[in-house]
Amino acid sequence: MAALTVWQGIVEHTKLRAGQTVLVNGAAGGTGHFAVQLAKARGAHVIGVASGRHEAFLREMGVDACIDYTTTSPEHVGRVVDLVIDTVGTMGENPLLMTLKRGGTLLWIGRRSMNNGIIGTEHTEAGIAIEKIQVRSNGAHLAALSEQIDAGRLRVVVDTVVPLAEARKAHERGEAGHLQGIMVLRVAEEACGLT
Ligand SMILES: NC(=O)c1ccc[n+]([C@@H]2O[C@H](COP(=O)([O-])OP(=O)(O)OC[C@H]3O[C@@H](n4cnc5c(N)ncnc54)[C@H](OP(=O)(O)O)[C@@H]3O)[C@@H](O)[C@H]2O)c1
Repeated sequence: MAALTVWQGIVEHTKLRAGQTVLVNGAAGGTGHFAVQLAKARGAHVIGVASGRHEAFLREMGVDACIDYTTTSPEHVGRVVDLVIDTVGTMGENPLLMTLKRGGTLLWIGRRSMNNGIIGTEHTEAGIAIEKIQVRSNGAHLAALSEQIDAGRLRVVVDTVVPLAEARKAHERGEAGHLQGIMVLRVAEEACGLT
Protein backbone atom coordinates (compact mmCIF):
# COMPACT_ATOMS: atom_id res chain seq x y z
CA MET A 1 0.00 0.00 0.00
CA ALA A 2 2.87 2.36 0.82
CA ALA A 3 4.49 1.86 -2.59
CA LEU A 4 1.14 2.07 -4.38
CA THR A 5 0.38 5.41 -2.73
CA VAL A 6 3.63 6.95 -3.89
CA TRP A 7 3.41 5.38 -7.35
CA GLN A 8 -0.07 6.80 -7.90
CA GLY A 9 1.03 10.14 -6.51
CA ILE A 10 4.04 10.50 -8.78
CA VAL A 11 2.59 8.95 -11.94
CA GLU A 12 -0.94 10.33 -11.84
CA HIS A 13 -0.75 13.55 -9.88
CA THR A 14 2.59 15.10 -10.77
CA LYS A 15 4.64 15.67 -13.87
CA LEU A 16 8.01 14.72 -12.39
CA ARG A 17 10.81 14.99 -14.97
CA ALA A 18 14.49 14.01 -14.92
CA GLY A 19 16.69 16.74 -13.48
CA GLN A 20 13.99 18.16 -11.21
CA THR A 21 14.44 18.46 -7.45
CA VAL A 22 12.23 16.43 -5.11
CA LEU A 23 12.06 16.81 -1.35
CA VAL A 24 10.67 13.82 0.56
CA ASN A 25 9.45 14.59 4.07
CA GLY A 26 9.46 11.49 6.31
CA ALA A 27 11.92 9.93 3.88
CA ALA A 28 12.87 6.88 5.98
CA GLY A 29 9.35 5.58 6.62
CA GLY A 30 7.12 3.18 4.72
CA THR A 31 5.92 5.58 2.04
CA GLY A 32 9.04 7.75 2.29
CA HIS A 33 11.65 5.14 1.34
CA PHE A 34 9.60 4.23 -1.73
CA ALA A 35 9.19 7.92 -2.63
CA VAL A 36 12.97 8.40 -2.52
CA GLN A 37 13.62 5.41 -4.77
CA LEU A 38 10.84 6.14 -7.27
CA ALA A 39 11.91 9.77 -7.59
CA LYS A 40 15.56 8.74 -8.08
CA ALA A 41 14.51 6.20 -10.72
CA ARG A 42 12.93 9.10 -12.63
CA GLY A 43 16.21 11.00 -12.61
CA ALA A 44 15.36 13.50 -9.89
CA HIS A 45 17.75 15.14 -7.46
CA VAL A 46 16.35 13.96 -4.11
CA ILE A 47 16.51 15.66 -0.71
CA GLY A 48 15.40 13.43 2.18
CA VAL A 49 14.03 14.89 5.42
CA ALA A 50 14.22 12.58 8.45
CA SER A 51 15.78 12.44 11.88
CA GLY A 52 19.58 12.17 11.78
CA ARG A 53 19.68 8.50 12.81
CA HIS A 54 18.41 7.60 9.31
CA GLU A 55 21.13 9.34 7.29
CA ALA A 56 23.11 6.22 6.30
CA PHE A 57 19.88 4.45 5.38
CA LEU A 58 18.68 7.37 3.27
CA ARG A 59 22.00 7.49 1.39
CA GLU A 60 21.56 3.75 0.67
CA MET A 61 18.09 4.49 -0.73
CA GLY A 62 19.72 7.04 -3.03
CA VAL A 63 19.14 10.52 -1.59
CA ASP A 64 21.51 13.24 -2.78
CA ALA A 65 21.10 15.34 0.37
CA CYS A 66 19.71 14.82 3.87
CA ILE A 67 18.05 17.27 6.23
CA ASP A 68 17.75 16.29 9.90
CA TYR A 69 14.45 17.90 10.90
CA THR A 70 15.42 17.69 14.58
CA THR A 71 18.20 20.24 14.05
CA THR A 72 17.46 22.01 10.76
CA SER A 73 14.31 23.44 9.29
CA PRO A 74 13.76 22.22 5.69
CA GLU A 75 12.70 25.75 4.58
CA HIS A 76 16.37 26.72 4.79
CA VAL A 77 17.02 25.11 1.39
CA GLY A 78 15.16 28.06 -0.19
CA ARG A 79 12.75 27.86 -3.12
CA VAL A 80 14.67 25.22 -5.09
CA VAL A 81 12.25 22.29 -5.06
CA ASP A 82 9.90 21.22 -7.90
CA LEU A 83 8.02 18.54 -5.98
CA VAL A 84 7.56 17.98 -2.26
CA ILE A 85 6.27 14.55 -1.23
CA ASP A 86 4.99 15.08 2.30
CA THR A 87 4.37 11.78 4.10
CA VAL A 88 4.18 13.45 7.50
CA GLY A 89 1.65 16.24 6.96
CA THR A 90 1.46 19.44 8.93
CA MET A 91 -1.59 21.07 10.40
CA GLY A 92 -2.46 24.51 9.02
CA GLU A 93 0.02 26.27 6.75
CA ASN A 94 2.61 23.72 5.62
CA PRO A 95 6.15 25.15 6.06
CA LEU A 96 7.38 22.91 3.23
CA LEU A 97 5.53 25.23 0.82
CA MET A 98 8.44 27.64 1.39
CA THR A 99 10.82 25.22 -0.37
CA LEU A 100 8.82 25.11 -3.62
CA LYS A 101 9.48 27.06 -6.81
CA ARG A 102 6.56 28.81 -8.55
CA GLY A 103 4.79 26.11 -10.55
CA GLY A 104 5.89 23.43 -8.07
CA THR A 105 3.69 20.79 -6.43
CA LEU A 106 3.19 19.66 -2.86
CA LEU A 107 1.99 16.05 -2.89
CA TRP A 108 0.36 15.63 0.48
CA ILE A 109 -0.17 12.04 1.61
CA GLY A 110 0.41 12.21 5.36
CA ARG A 111 -2.47 11.30 7.65
CA ARG A 112 -2.87 14.77 9.09
CA SER A 113 -3.62 16.15 5.65
CA MET A 114 -6.76 14.03 5.61
CA ASN A 115 -8.34 15.64 8.67
CA ASN A 116 -10.63 17.81 6.61
CA GLY A 117 -11.38 14.86 4.33
CA ILE A 118 -10.65 16.86 1.17
CA ILE A 119 -8.94 14.99 -1.64
CA GLY A 120 -8.05 17.06 -4.70
CA THR A 121 -6.03 20.01 -5.93
CA GLU A 122 -5.72 23.51 -4.49
CA HIS A 123 -3.60 26.35 -5.85
CA THR A 124 -1.82 28.87 -3.65
CA GLU A 125 -1.14 32.52 -4.50
CA ALA A 126 2.54 31.61 -4.97
CA GLY A 127 1.57 29.43 -7.96
CA ILE A 128 1.97 26.14 -6.13
CA ALA A 129 -0.37 23.17 -6.57
CA ILE A 130 -1.29 21.16 -3.49
CA GLU A 131 -2.38 17.64 -4.36
CA LYS A 132 -4.05 15.71 -1.54
CA ILE A 133 -4.36 12.10 -2.54
CA GLN A 134 -5.82 8.87 -1.22
CA VAL A 135 -4.48 5.48 -2.34
CA ARG A 136 -6.90 3.14 -4.10
CA SER A 137 -6.59 -0.46 -5.21
CA ASN A 138 -5.27 -0.90 -8.76
CA GLY A 139 -3.96 -4.21 -10.13
CA ALA A 140 -2.10 -2.64 -13.05
CA HIS A 141 -0.20 -0.29 -10.75
CA LEU A 142 0.67 -3.17 -8.40
CA ALA A 143 1.90 -5.22 -11.39
CA ALA A 144 4.14 -2.34 -12.48
CA LEU A 145 5.55 -2.09 -8.96
CA SER A 146 6.11 -5.86 -8.75
CA GLU A 147 8.06 -5.69 -11.98
CA GLN A 148 10.34 -3.01 -10.49
CA ILE A 149 10.82 -5.08 -7.33
CA ASP A 150 11.51 -8.34 -9.21
CA ALA A 151 14.03 -6.56 -11.43
CA GLY A 152 15.85 -5.28 -8.32
CA ARG A 153 15.13 -1.64 -9.17
CA LEU A 154 12.93 -1.04 -6.11
CA ARG A 155 13.89 -2.23 -2.65
CA VAL A 156 11.30 -3.12 -0.05
CA VAL A 157 12.85 -2.49 3.33
CA VAL A 158 11.08 -4.20 6.22
CA ASP A 159 11.31 -2.56 9.64
CA THR A 160 9.30 -5.17 11.55
CA VAL A 161 7.32 -8.36 10.86
CA VAL A 162 4.44 -9.04 13.25
CA PRO A 163 2.08 -12.07 13.21
CA LEU A 164 -1.52 -11.05 12.53
CA ALA A 165 -2.54 -12.36 15.95
CA GLU A 166 -0.25 -9.71 17.48
CA ALA A 167 -1.48 -6.84 15.31
CA ARG A 168 -1.67 -4.67 18.40
CA LYS A 169 2.15 -4.77 18.54
CA ALA A 170 2.28 -3.40 15.01
CA HIS A 171 0.11 -0.46 16.04
CA GLU A 172 2.31 0.16 19.06
CA ARG A 173 5.45 0.02 16.92
CA GLY A 174 3.89 2.43 14.41
CA GLU A 175 2.83 4.84 17.12
CA ALA A 176 6.31 4.77 18.66
CA GLY A 177 7.52 6.26 15.34
CA HIS A 178 10.99 6.30 13.76
CA LEU A 179 10.25 3.45 11.35
CA GLN A 180 12.81 2.52 8.70
CA GLY A 181 10.82 1.03 5.84
CA ILE A 182 7.52 -0.79 6.18
CA MET A 183 5.86 -3.02 8.76
CA VAL A 184 4.52 -6.39 7.67
CA LEU A 185 1.62 -8.29 9.20
CA ARG A 186 2.33 -11.99 8.68
CA VAL A 187 -1.01 -13.48 7.59
CA ALA A 188 -0.01 -16.80 5.98
CA GLU A 189 3.59 -17.70 6.56
CA GLU A 190 4.25 -20.12 3.70
CA ALA A 191 2.26 -18.16 1.15
CA CYS A 192 4.17 -14.96 1.94
CA GLY A 193 7.58 -16.61 2.07
CA LEU A 194 8.37 -14.69 5.25
CA THR A 195 9.71 -17.58 7.29
N1 LIG B 1 -2.94 9.34 1.45
C1 LIG B 1 -2.88 8.03 1.44
O1 LIG B 1 -3.53 7.34 0.63
C2 LIG B 1 -1.96 7.33 2.39
C3 LIG B 1 -1.46 6.04 2.10
C4 LIG B 1 -0.54 5.46 2.98
C5 LIG B 1 -0.18 6.14 4.14
N2 LIG B 1 -0.72 7.37 4.41
C6 LIG B 1 -0.34 8.13 5.62
O2 LIG B 1 0.97 8.61 5.38
C7 LIG B 1 1.63 8.76 6.63
C8 LIG B 1 3.01 8.12 6.56
O3 LIG B 1 2.85 6.72 6.44
P1 LIG B 1 4.12 5.81 6.55
O4 LIG B 1 3.63 4.41 6.45
O5 LIG B 1 5.16 6.27 5.59
O6 LIG B 1 4.57 6.13 8.05
P2 LIG B 1 5.87 5.66 8.81
O7 LIG B 1 6.37 4.42 8.18
O8 LIG B 1 5.53 5.70 10.25
O9 LIG B 1 6.94 6.79 8.48
C9 LIG B 1 6.92 8.06 8.99
C10 LIG B 1 8.37 8.56 8.96
O10 LIG B 1 8.37 9.95 9.20
C11 LIG B 1 9.44 10.28 10.08
N3 LIG B 1 9.03 11.51 10.77
C12 LIG B 1 8.26 11.65 11.89
N4 LIG B 1 8.07 12.95 12.17
C13 LIG B 1 8.69 13.66 11.20
C14 LIG B 1 8.85 15.04 10.93
N5 LIG B 1 8.32 15.98 11.72
N6 LIG B 1 9.54 15.41 9.83
C15 LIG B 1 10.08 14.49 9.00
N7 LIG B 1 10.00 13.15 9.21
C16 LIG B 1 9.30 12.74 10.30
C17 LIG B 1 9.59 9.04 10.96
O11 LIG B 1 10.87 8.75 11.45
P3 LIG B 1 11.91 9.75 12.14
O12 LIG B 1 11.08 10.66 13.02
O13 LIG B 1 12.82 8.86 12.91
O14 LIG B 1 12.58 10.47 11.01
C18 LIG B 1 9.25 7.89 10.00
O15 LIG B 1 10.41 7.37 9.38
C19 LIG B 1 0.72 8.12 7.69
O16 LIG B 1 0.05 9.16 8.36
C20 LIG B 1 -0.25 7.28 6.87
O17 LIG B 1 -1.50 7.17 7.51
C21 LIG B 1 -1.59 7.99 3.55
